Amino acid sequence: MRATTDLSAQEQFERAGHVLAGGVSASMRMNPYLGHPLYLSRGDGPYLFDLQGKRYIDFNLSNGAAILGHNHPAVRTAVEQGVEAGIIAAAEMPYHAELATQLVEIIPAAERVRFATVGTEVTVLALRIARHATGRVKYLKFDGHFHGLAEQWLYRRDTDAETVVPSSGGVPDDGGADVVMVPWNDTDAFEAAMRTHGDELAAVICEPIHFNAGCIPPAPGFLELLRSETTRHGVVLIFDEVLSGFRTALGGVQAETGITPDLTTHAKALANGMPLASLSGRRDLMETLVPTGPVAHSGTYSGHLLSVLAALATIEELRRPSVYDDLNARSQRFYNQLQGIFDRHDLPVVVQGRGGRFGMYFGRRGAVTTVADAAGHDHELNARFNRACVERGLYVHPYTRAGAPGHAGISLAHTDAVLDDALAILDDAASVVRA
Ligand SMILES: Cc1ncc(COP(=O)(O)O)c(C=O)c1O
Repeated sequence: MRATTDLSAQEQFERAGHVLAGGVSASMRMNPYLGHPLYLSRGDGPYLFDLQGKRYIDFNLSNGAAILGHNHPAVRTAVEQGVEAGIIAAAEMPYHAELATQLVEIIPAAERVRFATVGTEVTVLALRIARHATGRVKYLKFDGHFHGLAEQWLYRRDTDAETVVPSSGGVPDDGGADVVMVPWNDTDAFEAAMRTHGDELAAVICEPIHFNAGCIPPAPGFLELLRSETTRHGVVLIFDEVLSGFRTALGGVQAETGITPDLTTHAKALANGMPLASLSGRRDLMETLVPTGPVAHSGTYSGHLLSVLAALATIEELRRPSVYDDLNARSQRFYNQLQGIFDRHDLPVVVQGRGGRFGMYFGRRGAVTTVADAAGHDHELNARFNRACVERGLYVHPYTRAGAPGHAGISLAHTDAVLDDALAILDDAASVVRA
């Protein structure tokens, strides 16, 4: 089946609207700055190609999954091996234990591993285990941290009323009573919440780098505080590394900082674009899962063969010497140069990045350390810049048109030469927006 067509993106979108709900197969495929999705025919290395064959340097990378770049030969070969084995699903094979062995070696928290299909499934499962293990129901999450679109995570803080309210239709109001919500990096608020609720919490969950609001790293000492307070109150600490995993270090933020959570989730970069998620953590907690314990989890596609083979290939690539030294050095140079471009054009934009993922805060000067800082994002200015980039062959995906900006990223396929091309486009786009 061919994916190329003569229809424009707008025409594709109108046609899709007759059969796809909202014209898209996932809400965030919509590009709110363009008014339609970017329709693609294929991806290769650091590039995407649209239906007319136009090439874009890709800074979305399958929402952060393609850490090696698209169409990586080792991942392709691995997937082909699974195709030759008959694409069998719901089957246990030696590859699962092999991949789990690697994760136990790499991820500090991982004593036992369970595979699933998507990130949302494992964040929900982590909470289920925590509730069973502690016999408690409430959980603490940080305002704006994204853990997937499951009921438990679809609440936000109404800062005016200081209450927790649903952030989606169809989510019960009273579910908010189980959620204690605190602003990220607010030590006083976290300590106060633990004083009041610490002994009734099953879990504290966080993105250890808040990439879903661009890139807001933990304030110095903040992760240490989460660790000590959860230990003191017998609360399960969950690091959701679905996005931060394999991004700044092979073992994620927990390896980089030395702060080890009780449970941790991975997906996205784990299998470089194939659907795979893992929950791992303390043996006593993980062994509460059926068949050794009473906590339910299974799925027809859990640990799908093609995805597990893709993950083994991905991790082999990521384990090569100096991968993270190179990625961190190259990305930091890029973030500094990009900040230099905005400064030279006197545009109010702050660039913040860690490893292979970054955020651009439009309408802002000075570091973004809280979600409130990020919420002031100037979407109008960002939209003009984004459209100028798309016209010139560079793609950054805006996830929403309200609140904090989304995240962008670079892969191992974004060489210095590719990043120099990108900087030329970004410079040009900045001058257009400035004018
Ligand atoms: C930190 C984090 N957790 C969980 C999820 C949900 O993962 P999935 O989209 O695979 O369900 C995401 C997805 O963006 C994420 O960034």
